[in-house]
Amino acid sequence: MIIAIDGTSAAGKGTLAANLVKKLDFAYLDTGALFRAVGQILIKENQKPEDKEKAIKAAESLSPENILSLQKDPSIRTEECGSAASKVAAIPEVRQILLKFQRRFALQPVKEDGTPAAGAILDGRDIGTVVCPDAQMKVFLTASAEVRAQRRLKELQEKGICAIYDEILKKVKERDARDTNRETAPLKPAADALFLDTSSMTADDVFAIVLREMKGKGLI
Ligand code: DC
Repeated sequence: MIIAIDGTSAAGKGTLAANLVKKLDFAYLDTGALFRAVGQILIKENQKPEDKEKAIKAAESLSPENILSLQKDPSIRTEECGSAASKVAAIPEVRQILLKFQRRFALQPVKEDGTPAAGAILDGRDIGTVVCPDAQMKVFLTASAEVRAQRRLKELQEKGICAIYDEILKKVKERDARDTNRETAPLKPAADALFLDTSSMTADDVFAIVLREMKGKGLI
């Protein structure tokens, strides 16, 4: 079984995925980590994330065996990497290279301990529309930019990182615009996705609604 979770940044995709992993013992791929890793390589090399040739090289240098450990690396979680990720994500050739990693994972899901799983959970921007259009369960999460900026601020503060709300809000809006308006695989809900605006929902509310929907579909 494949569960596709798409949506805007900081809408609760990762939290929903973690809850589903706990419940179903599926393998999980945070596909944003792949784009962040490419963005980080370019930052480290002092290159512009818009540099197509360099971005393609960086994407090609990722090893399919390492994709699960990438998502555990805290150094890719900075705003700088998120913003670079969103820029490299607009390059079709980069998306094509990373698409192969994602499809391979979805078809042969492997858990972090290396054992095969009965299903895959992927979160990102185009999982339900492009990467896994045949996923049995598709969820699209969003929330107002203000609520998402507030969530991100809280996350950063909890990590002891100093941040300013207005700056985060500006970055959230910039990233939304870039992810939504790019030509290749733009952020948009699949026609058959469960669409949830989580602005006034808790993570538990979202989890309960998704489980109810999956029961209704006879998936669990
Ligand atoms: O989910 P995230 O914030 O870690 O993603 C970082 C960026 O990567 C996001 O702004 C857009 C891009 N991305 C994408 O284009 N397609 C995906 N499937 C996942 C992420």
